[in-house]
Amino acid sequence: MTRRRQIYEGKAKILYEGPEPGTIIQYFKDDATAFNAQKKGTISGKGVLNNRISEHLFTLLGGIGIPTHFIRRLNMREQLVRQVEIIPIEVVIRNVVAGSLAKRFGLEDGTTLPRTIIEYYYKDDALNDPMVTDEHIAAFGWATQEEMHDIADMAIRVNDFMAGLFAGVGIKLVDFKLEFGRLYDGEFSRVILADEISPDGCRLWDMKSGDKLDKDRFRLDLGGEVEAYQEVARRLGLMAEDESAVLDLDEHRKARGK
Ligand code: TMP
Ligand code: ASP
Repeated sequence: MTRRRQIYEGKAKILYEGPEPGTIIQYFKDDATAFNAQKKGTISGKGVLNNRISEHLFTLLGGIGIPTHFIRRLNMREQLVRQVEIIPIEVVIRNVVAGSLAKRFGLEDGTTLPRTIIEYYYKDDALNDPMVTDEHIAAFGWATQEEMHDIADMAIRVNDFMAGLFAGVGIKLVDFKLEFGRLYDGEFSRVILADEISPDGCRLWDMKSGDKLDKDRFRLDLGGEVEAYQEVARRLGLMAEDESAVLDLDEHRKARGK
């Protein structure tokens, strides 16, 4: 393998310089963290599944006119994306009470919200990703008001689309996190959807059983993480008949040193 320049290593992905200017390669690791990296582990095969699931969702979102950074999947663990300047805000969209919302307001998990809630968190591990409002974002110059308008608009469209998509395969989209980036064209830039969408950053509940099919299995020590991610991939039509095929192939590649 030719050596590529590593640009950044995050908790679940590594970014490498891409083959053409303005592109980067996202490598999906099996590493998992929770509670601001206080809890660490690996979920064997997660990277392969997230790469595939994220490819699928970004492709479908592109198809309904959401601009995204996704170009194409390169192999089991890597995808080629457009290089953007990441806006340091985590955009959380909630349809159902869970997680920190339940905790903060003493609400019961699983209560459907009367309307979708969008929350913003400032991406800063040292500060523990504090929740912020549009006021902080504007005052501290993290994004302009126009950019925030576009982001809120896209977040709602992504939510409507994904909630319907998952409902169609018996999964409730409880909440999820999005990240956006600036794509520059000369001195102008526009905001596009970036990062990934996978069970790492979504709460996905089976509609019949209520089973959690997402990273809460890891956060809450429920076990069966990879099986849950596989189930999401399977429902989305992304698994071969033999459910382990996608993972075996990856192991095979590794064994050959590719
Ligand atoms: P929360 O209930 O912990 O605030 O999380 C809401 C949703 O956002 C949940 O689906 C997990 C996702 N999320 C991330 O992807 N990264 C994060 O750092 C946080 C806090 C949440
Ligand atoms: N904040 C992420 C999560 O819990 C990961 C982390 O905090 O380490 O989803």
